[in-house]
Amino acid sequence: MREIIKWSKDFETGIKAFDDEHKFLVKTLNEIYSLLGEGKKEEAKELLKKRVVNYAAKHFKHEEEVMEKYGYPDLERHKKTHEIFVKTVIEKLLPKIEEGSENDFRSALSFLVGWLTMHIAKPDKEYGKWFKEKGIVIEDEMVNID
Ligand SMILES: [Fe+2]
Ligand SMILES: [Fe+2]
Repeated sequence: MREIIKWSKDFETGIKAFDDEHKFLVKTLNEIYSLLGEGKKEEAKELLKKRVVNYAAKHFKHEEEVMEKYGYPDLERHKKTHEIFVKTVIEKLLPKIEEGSENDFRSALSFLVGWLTMHIAKPDKEYGKWFKEKGIVIEDEMVNID
């Protein structure tokens, strides 16, 4: 399968549930990229809506709940970052994918890949560090896909 993004150690937060959720998002972005390469734009679109947008929202909620539960100090800022991302996706990205050309779709996909990798590698990894320092072990399972 052609990949637009490769899972790397730099993405590991050390919290299994969140790493599994992130891996699922990365895998789905690669599937979308593959579908686009095969000219299956409609299937790619569906996957993006169902498996990326919905799943990202579930994942963000999961992170926020856990951060809240343990009093993570940077929760508010982290939450705001999630919020802005969701708003951008809904207001700008989805309409562009819905009505735009294949190039628009590809640039939207690049935006998603760029945002997610930056977000996982920076603020998400930071909470991982914090939980580790505090000796807090999260035993959650990853959130369901459907
Ligand atoms: Fe995350
Ligand atoms: Fe996050």
